Amino acid sequence: ATADIGVTGLAVMGRNLARNLARHGHVVALHNRSVQRTRSLVAEHGDEGTFVASESLAEFVGSLKSPRAVIVMVKAGEPTDAVIEELTPLLDEGDIVIDCGNAHFADTRRREATLREHGIHFVGCGVSGGEEGALLGPSIMPGGSAQSYQKLGPIFESIAAQVDGTPCCVHVGPDGAGHFVKMVHNGIEYADMQLIAEAYDLLRAGLGAEPPELAEIFRTWNSGDLESFLIEITADVLAHVDDTTGKPFVDIVLDQAEQKGTGRWTVQTALDLGVPITGIAEATFARSLSGHAEQRSAARAALSQESGIQVDDREQFIEDVRRALYASKVVAYAQGFDLITAGSAEYGWDVDRGAMATIWRGGCIIRARFLDRIREAYDADPDLPSLLVAPYFADAVRAGVQSWRRVVATAALGGIPTPAFSSSLAYYDALRRLPLPAALIQGLRDNFGAHTYRRTDRDGSFHVQWAGDKAEHPA
Ligand code: 6PG
Repeated sequence: ATADIGVTGLAVMGRNLARNLARHGHVVALHNRSVQRTRSLVAEHGDEGTFVASESLAEFVGSLKSPRAVIVMVKAGEPTDAVIEELTPLLDEGDIVIDCGNAHFADTRRREATLREHGIHFVGCGVSGGEEGALLGPSIMPGGSAQSYQKLGPIFESIAAQVDGTPCCVHVGPDGAGHFVKMVHNGIEYADMQLIAEAYDLLRAGLGAEPPELAEIFRTWNSGDLESFLIEITADVLAHVDDTTGKPFVDIVLDQAEQKGTGRWTVQTALDLGVPITGIAEATFARSLSGHAEQRSAARAALSQESGIQVDDREQFIEDVRRALYASKVVAYAQGFDLITAGSAEYGWDVDRGAMATIWRGGCIIRARFLDRIREAYDADPDLPSLLVAPYFADAVRAGVQSWRRVVATAALGGIPTPAFSSSLAYYDALRRLPLPAALIQGLRDNFGAHTYRRTDRDGSFHVQWAGDKAEHPA
């Protein structure tokens, strides 16, 4: 046995991860259900490093040095379970199975517990950066046992993106922690993209500008606080012209956003854990709404349209939208990190939030300049109650709040939907407001259902005899 690590499942992500590993000097065992894929990988890229190709799973396992490390890169759900089931009897105690797909963290917890009974380490590992990242340096979020990371750490850190000499890979925490953090990463990715889309929509309506001009605005923004991969590719996509029609590409794409499910999982998990990730939720629902073509067409026919905004000072408006985008983005990240905090507490993972910001600085889809600021905020105060209260972000949001309000008000008056901008501003306002009208909700609950309430001035729970003498009683 000569291979340091193996990859089974050689579709584009598995193929690129295998090549990345080989390029970094690791001997890589290869396996794919249809042998053709394995052969073509070796034929096309065999000179990039040392590959050991196998035609059967048993042969593949046999080619790996002990303790074996096997990356499973197949579709999430049943296909992953099927491969694990086939693999388990071929492995020995101490071997490591790594799932680098976008699995639900609950599945990862279940698989980890099952394999642990066999003495096998199961590592649910988030990998971000798409196809190119997998090949050139992704952000890697491995969960699982600390022991498994002793073997995997040096390998994964060698193939991960590097920022200022630091690899974008760290042991996230036990069992499902890696996949949980990757799920939240994707939720933030949804919010980031929705915010960018709202900014684009507002600028287009407000300035009456065409996509090439808007591309330039985003390109300019990419040299400031907003510098990030998603802003950079927004400029590219807006500048792109459709080959067949000569129209701006963005005008020939059907306006219905799809999703594979990680955003939905993020919102479902947040509901279960009671964490208000409103920006991510609005972003996820906005995709759903866009897909309801029949309802949208009925609404266009039945409901009058009053959309259009009046902009007097173009430069001011562009700056307002930029600041609103930045402030809303801070909220989305603050909420995402709150969900990581809650998941970590619920499952006992002890996730280091500053370390998550560090490994998201490069390789992944949400890589951005301001992740350095997030890391600094958690370095300064590891128990930070919300990113929004870290001095840097508190100042940044405060500086932009008037712009933010103007943008949300302008959008509302002009009939331009900005669910993520608006809900993020509402979150920012709600977090600071005292009292919240939640007091009235408690009163209503006590009135119709005797659900009781707590008082501002005394401990304990109380109930009013609403149907009788309206006297208050301790509950
Ligand atoms: C990444 C991406 C990747 C994938 C998304 C797409 O980090 O590299 O997040 O995992 O592109 O899952 O998700 P949707 O299809 O749900 O938009």
